Amino acid sequence: MSLDNDKKPAIELVGIDKRFGAVHANRDINLTVAKGSIHGIIGENGAGKSTLMSILYGFYQADAGEIRISGAPVAIRDSQTAISAGIGMVHQHFMLVEDFTVLENVMLGAEGGQLLRRGVASARKELKRLETDYGLDVDPDALIEELPVGSQQRVEILKALYRGAEILILDEPTGVLTPAEADHLFRILQVLRDQGKTIILITHKLREIMAITDTVSVMRRGEMVATRKTKETTVEELAELMVGRRVLLRVEKGEANPGAPLLSVRNLTVKDGRGVTMVDDVSFDVHAGEIVGIAGVAGNGQSELLEAIAGIRKPFSGDILIDGKPVAGVDPARLRALGLAHIPEDRHHMGLVLKFEEYENSILGYHRDPRYGRGGLLDLDAIRKDAEEKIAKYDIRPPNPRLKTANFSGGNQQKIVVAREIERDPKMLLVGQPTRGVDIGAIEFIHRRIVEMRDAGKAVLLVSVELDEIRALSDRILVMFAGKVVGEKTPDAGEQTLGLMMAGIAA
Ligand SMILES: Nc1ncnc2c1ncn2[C@@H]1O[C@H](COP(=O)(O)OP(=O)(O)OP(=O)(O)O)[C@@H](O)[C@H]1O
Ligand SMILES: [Mg+2]
Repeated sequence: MSLDNDKKPAIELVGIDKRFGAVHANRDINLTVAKGSIHGIIGENGAGKSTLMSILYGFYQADAGEIRISGAPVAIRDSQTAISAGIGMVHQHFMLVEDFTVLENVMLGAEGGQLLRRGVASARKELKRLETDYGLDVDPDALIEELPVGSQQRVEILKALYRGAEILILDEPTGVLTPAEADHLFRILQVLRDQGKTIILITHKLREIMAITDTVSVMRRGEMVATRKTKETTVEELAELMVGRRVLLRVEKGEANPGAPLLSVRNLTVKDGRGVTMVDDVSFDVHAGEIVGIAGVAGNGQSELLEAIAGIRKPFSGDILIDGKPVAGVDPARLRALGLAHIPEDRHHMGLVLKFEEYENSILGYHRDPRYGRGGLLDLDAIRKDAEEKIAKYDIRPPNPRLKTANFSGGNQQKIVVAREIERDPKMLLVGQPTRGVDIGAIEFIHRRIVEMRDAGKAVLLVSVELDEIRALSDRILVMFAGKVVGEKTPDAGEQTLGLMMAGIAA
């Protein structure tokens, strides 16, 4: 490559425009990404970030505009053209074959090309070289299903590099990672950048933007509204550029007024499908009018605990009591009738049916409610009106109850679940990762609703891997490690103290 070519931007998007029916997802977007840089893209849920990247990767075709790579216009008709042009994408929902090895997956990615014919031995050698060059350690012979999420993500990156990617797109890569895995990923991205690769990073976490990007661009309602050198901006400025108003980056809440225990867990033990103990003899109470937060590194039993209480997973032994009545093993519908609402951690598997229209999901699990019909007949007008009210109150975009749920952006899907569960006015609320993939304006909103629930005398149990979120919302914090509650702290306990407990180092 000539020196001259090296100075050309890795990517130029010129006048990119895209509509989905009435939704104008990308409006005349211009963006220049410098070679060898980490370029962040931020913006509210539904701002058009994923759409823009899908156009660059050939998933969607723009209605208008031009894509230039190293100065030359390229028509990206499909992902194959994108890959040939040196673009790689690390998907949020990994596209890996679970019962194949790492090496097989990496080779499979290059299917059809001469790369496959190159043979296993040379592929293995190339994979090793990539791993050493970029610090991406994964065992080539490990099965994907046996790897933790962080390693699976590294396989996605390796796959892209193996196919010759010079430009890597990562759309919210840290949403599924533990803090340690996220740090690891960032170290890798920095190495990649230092070796001349170009990285586009979409994230809602402004802390990540400040820590790792060179440049940051802000989208709002389909438009590119600003680009800043990261060194020359602040979290406050970025927040305001994204949302178009000042955002409160702290949760405002008064003292808790706890009443009687509403939810009690006694000596609860929960095993996973393979019979491994995930929750180990755990006991605690959640009182009316308080928020109890469960802190912990992902995978220490918090998810299984929440699922057992929600009736999704059968406990192995122990009791769960609602208002003093034993409910262990009772099904979710009965639990809902007893006043237990649940915002599940994984909205795609448990919170939503993506092929349903929005209004159907807005009452999912509550369709027997007399508000929505009688004698087995649903009152569609009432349901749609109810859905429209929630859409307005939670600012779900686009405001269309007839849109297929899959066509809402990630953060807006999360708002659909949150609205459904909170607007039921339950007595107890189980909340798992309530703000995963949600923009900062919506985080502020969801946090306020959770505090309002507490102030209205509800018992709230919160599970989050975001320690900041746990500390900001909780009145009491229980720390889980290896299936056990290893300690209880107040929210003013330092990040370091909690961090050590979460790592199993201090009690
Ligand atoms: N296939 C589709 N059909 C209809 N509308 C779509 C489709 N894909 C995206 N949209 C709409 O386009 C807009 C932009 O969505 P996009 O997914 O790009 O947002 P985003 O900025 O990535 O948001 P998030 O932060 O929530 O992931 C949204 O209003 C979304 O509902
Ligand atoms: Mg997105």
